[in-house]
Amino acid sequence: MHINHSLIELIGKTPLLDCTPLTGRASARLVAKLELFNPGGSIKDRPAKAMIEAAEEAGLLRKGMTIVEPTAGNTGIGLALVGNLKGYKTVFFVPDRMSKEKIVCMQLLGAEVVLVDKDLGMPGCIKQAHDYAERTGHCFIPQQFENPANPDQAEHFLGPEVHEQLGYYPDGLAVGSGTGGTFTGLARWLRNNHPTPQCWCVQPLGSVFAGDPKGSYEVEGIGNSFVPDTLDLDLADRIVTVKDAQSFKRVKEAALKLGLLLGGSSGANLDAAIELCHELGPGKTVLTVLPDGLERYLSKEWVTKLVRS
Ligand SMILES: Cc1ncc(COP(=O)(O)O)c(C=O)c1O
Repeated sequence: MHINHSLIELIGKTPLLDCTPLTGRASARLVAKLELFNPGGSIKDRPAKAMIEAAEEAGLLRKGMTIVEPTAGNTGIGLALVGNLKGYKTVFFVPDRMSKEKIVCMQLLGAEVVLVDKDLGMPGCIKQAHDYAERTGHCFIPQQFENPANPDQAEHFLGPEVHEQLGYYPDGLAVGSGTGGTFTGLARWLRNNHPTPQCWCVQPLGSVFAGDPKGSYEVEGIGNSFVPDTLDLDLADRIVTVKDAQSFKRVKEAALKLGLLLGGSSGANLDAAIELCHELGPGKTVLTVLPDGLERYLSKEWVTKLVRS
């Protein structure tokens, strides 16, 4: 018998699913980490736990302090879950275009959520989080866009989990970047263990990672209006840009062919990973991550349109 005593223990160790039926023709094998199976419902539980524990160890986060963070939502949910269970107050600055579902989850997990005008974007959230911490004092800002614990956890935990499940190192990866923590950590891990890996960084059209002008997009969690410190683009063989419509099309295919209900960034990751599978061909393996689930976006128009399409 094994009983867990805290949900924190259940972060990580997510299943690895063979998604090759989605590639449509002879291609590399496609495997995906089901990160929606984390207790907070997304991949961001991992860096949330890692950043909190690293700060506790360094003495930067102590009893009675408040965790303050600019977040697109999923990091907020992870930080609220872990922070609340550890007894910290949490306050998050979130762009107001983010889904209601994420905001409600953060609030139910005990967080105070401050909505920031979407035109101010993530830089506006970062500024307001710093202003709040300065005004209030006794705060810790994990700053997922700068915190080395963010990519480090993907390199030292997420990657090795894949190796344990797969039994070998994949030949390529296609992973979406918001902070870039997942891509950077996984690309470092793969480059340290495979002689010639293909590492593709995925972004939505409207994100600036490939030098294109800033635009708007509906997929949440990936892309940005600046290149964060936690995103090492030198590790990327290619920056792949995926249009919203293509990401959502992949969400529908994953539901019908695999029974998986996924968020939009998973659709973008799958689209790029399928292209990489076709390029590498049979006998090779491509890794991607499926960061969160569809239920986090049910109030969004793109979901309603997808049902009707
Ligand atoms: C839904 C979703 N997908 C992908 C990502 C990207 O992860 P990373 O911040 O590690 O680049 C995030 C990050 O918040 C996310 O919320």
